[in-house]
Amino acid sequence: MKITKICCIGAGYVGGPTMAVIAQKCPHIQVTVVDLNEQRIKDWNDPDTNNIPIYEPGLSEIVAEARGRNLFFSTEVEKAIDEAQVIFISVNTPTKTYGKGKGMAADLKYIELCARQIAKVAKQNKIVVEKSTLPVRTAEAIKSILDNTGNGVQFQILSNPEFLAEGTAVTDLLNPDRILIGGDTTPEGEVAINALVDVYANWVSKDKILTTNVWSSELSKLTANAFLAQRISSINAMSELCEKTGADVNEVARAIGMDSRIGPKFLKASVGFGGSCFQKDILNLVYIAKSYGLNEVADYWEQVIIMNDHQKKRFSNKIVQTLYNTVADKKITFLGWAFKKDTNDTRESAAIYVADDLINEQASIAVYDPKVSGNKIQSDLNYLETRSVEENKARVVTFDNAYEACKDAHAIAVLTEWDEFTTYDWQRIYDSMHKPAFLFDGRNILNAKELESIGFIYNGIGS
Ligand code: UDX
Ligand code: ADP
Repeated sequence: MKITKICCIGAGYVGGPTMAVIAQKCPHIQVTVVDLNEQRIKDWNDPDTNNIPIYEPGLSEIVAEARGRNLFFSTEVEKAIDEAQVIFISVNTPTKTYGKGKGMAADLKYIELCARQIAKVAKQNKIVVEKSTLPVRTAEAIKSILDNTGNGVQFQILSNPEFLAEGTAVTDLLNPDRILIGGDTTPEGEVAINALVDVYANWVSKDKILTTNVWSSELSKLTANAFLAQRISSINAMSELCEKTGADVNEVARAIGMDSRIGPKFLKASVGFGGSCFQKDILNLVYIAKSYGLNEVADYWEQVIIMNDHQKKRFSNKIVQTLYNTVADKKITFLGWAFKKDTNDTRESAAIYVADDLINEQASIAVYDPKVSGNKIQSDLNYLETRSVEENKARVVTFDNAYEACKDAHAIAVLTEWDEFTTYDWQRIYDSMHKPAFLFDGRNILNAKELESIGFIYNGIGS
């Protein structure tokens, strides 16, 4: 089976970059990305590819090359489903905010809607690929909807989890550590698996393309994210101990990272991990374990989240305590709002929770982030429903220039590790601030010694 037409439902952080790279690497395949959100599609079609809705280094160039050639963005969901042989589902699966599994299970309403739409429209056999991170055994639910509401055509469901990290999506997609494809072990399942293997084989060597059964593939995605997040919570746990004992967590991380069994990556102590995946996936894992009565397994993984929440709280508490136990009406400047550098995504960003704590203490927050808009910052805070929209507006002001944002501040808190923060004229910033001038480096990216010699009272994580 040769694939020539692909459709992807969901033009978000996963669907957009993934399809752009597939289109770039497979000029013989027509790739159509559809979304219900008209504005999002309009933005993807902006004549200036610098204005596409997702910021990822290298992405606008790829879109410029492939768009209109074999890459299309559209709101015509049904037409795209009808024409495609392969349909990727890349819609969002946020944590449920209601009912059973509230705060823990993934909300599958968008997935179900997609499955029903595919079932309604499809008149030929289709391969349906789960791309969004889904709880184990979602493929089964999709299959049941497709088979029971469809027009009698055959569906093969594959799980092909995305391992790209935001901020490095393009390089991760171009040079993946591995591609994972799970499918049925039936002859039809194998045909579908091989068809998708052939798509990736256009730029990924075959030894990096793993095929498994569907459940293994679904569970591997959750497991990978749980292991990665666990490393961060482990080093963050040590950061608190370091602060108490006089050890330096950066030195500890370096020392353990040189053990080849441990390795150096993902050992950066921070104000806490954010992003759309880690928390959600671990909560999913916890929920699944609980639903099988595996309480110890559930508690084990839940501790990773508990540690992460603690780390965020600890950071805001430290700011309040260091500023003489009151931040009421003090200006505190946040450098960075995104959950990590090189992305405009703010989902689950530590900045949101730290800001929320400080606003509870009646601080005035100024924010500068090179890629995040003031509207986004306000909507992130409003989403928490801690206080009124007006109050958030009054307490949080956004700047498009870091020097302006820091003027007259009592303290600066670095929440995102944007490279540009390390290139600032820190003397100039210090001179414009209230004294004593405090700096809380939630990412350990700045040079503590240099800042202290200027006069800052510097606080990193874990030192
Ligand atoms: C993650 C996985 O890495 C990716 O494989 C998966 O497909 C989706 O989830 P992402 O959330 O985009 O990707 O970013 P990642 O680089 O993993 O960072 C997650 C969070 O952990 C960020 O807030 C980051 O700042 C933080 N982090 C990361 C640390 O605090 N310390 C580290 O050492 C590494
Ligand atoms: P992710 O990080 O998983 O890519 P995003 O929220 O960035 O998540 O993207 C998911 C996209 O899926 C959104 O743009 C949303 O509008 C879209 N979407 C959700 N449900 C549907 C649907 N039934 N049909 C088409 N698009 C959908």
